Amino acid sequence: MLLTILFLVSLVSCKSILLTNDDSWVSTNIRAAYRDLTKAGYDVLLVAPVSQRSSWGGRFQIPSSKTLETDGEFGYVKAGSPSWGHEENDQHIWYFNGTPSSCVAFTIDYLLQSKEVSDFGTTIDLVVSGPNEDPNLLPGFYTNSGTMAAAYTALYRGIPAISFSGSDTNNSFFKDSLNTDLQNPANIYATKIVDLVDKYFNASNPFPPTTGLNVNFPPVGHLNSSCEDPKWTFTKLMGTGVFQQGVKYDSSSELLQVDIKYVDNIESLCIYGDCSLRAEHDVFLEFNCESTVSVFSIDYDANADQTDSVKKLLGF
Ligand SMILES: *[C@@H]1O[C@H](CO)[C@@H](O)[C@H](O)[C@H]1NC(C)=O
Ligand SMILES: *[C@@H]1O[C@H](CO)[C@@H](O)[C@H](O)[C@H]1NC(C)=O
Ligand SMILES: *[C@@H]1O[C@H](CO)[C@@H](O)[C@H](O)[C@H]1NC(C)=O
Repeated sequence: MLLTILFLVSLVSCKSILLTNDDSWVSTNIRAAYRDLTKAGYDVLLVAPVSQRSSWGGRFQIPSSKTLETDGEFGYVKAGSPSWGHEENDQHIWYFNGTPSSCVAFTIDYLLQSKEVSDFGTTIDLVVSGPNEDPNLLPGFYTNSGTMAAAYTALYRGIPAISFSGSDTNNSFFKDSLNTDLQNPANIYATKIVDLVDKYFNASNPFPPTTGLNVNFPPVGHLNSSCEDPKWTFTKLMGTGVFQQGVKYDSSSELLQVDIKYVDNIESLCIYGDCSLRAEHDVFLEFNCESTVSVFSIDYDANADQTDSVKKLLGF
């Protein structure tokens, strides 16, 4: 009897997490998050693109052949290997030749159903995406970011999701950079992720449907030695500024280059959200050792006032 109760208790407390990103399954950031979430007692399945899919947004791409046509990120998986597979010594760490959005679908529709992971359940309690190797500050990066796309893809399936982005922009290979150095930004970010995931599962109810979180971490540790434990700051996505993706002409190469500029030119009008909160990019750009936490929704409809105005204008 006691054993049965203990077994039930452990079943209930073991929450399952799908961990993904857009910088590939071998990035230091995702491996540090995997290590720490697993250590914290979560049942974690890491399934992420075999190679960089940054800025692919929500594009849905799946393998068109049984094997990889080119090497994966950092040559860790070679061309000719199967289009999906796992670490030899850990069947909870998978690559998939797809995008962040298709990694979510692959995991839920195929991997968990096929029982290829013998000791994992068939459902996911939370999708954690990232931490990305670069901030994803909205509104500029909502549709562009593969990290955020994995989160909104999960929300469409009714699965709660949190996207995390860091300030360490180096595309680093875990075999080079995964260590126990307390100043390693990947380690600080992983600790913070466990803290927020604990808070999520500690809450008595899940988030309302369609609701996700977007988190941006400031420069920490080796990037800023006076910021080791960035505090959580509740923010909103929209302010008056936007990271605008533009182009500029480079006369030496005679090619266009991506030109990302911060412009502060959105009419300051708060239609949605808690208007008393500060925008995540404003808080982030102060570099005051704060991790921004913004709540987003995948309900795209304009609000009732906006809809009504348009309806009247069109005479419907
Ligand atoms: C950036 O990542 C590469 C690839 O893992 C690594 O060789 C290099 O040392 C890293 N650079 C820094 C400054 O961490
Ligand atoms: C989660 O709840 C436990 C038990 O009440 C508590 O010890 C822990 O500090 C909480 N963690 C967070 C991150 O809120
Ligand atoms: C580094 O952290 C300190 C302490 O929080 C902060 O005052 C400073 O602005 C930060 N600098 C950067 C570049 O993040």
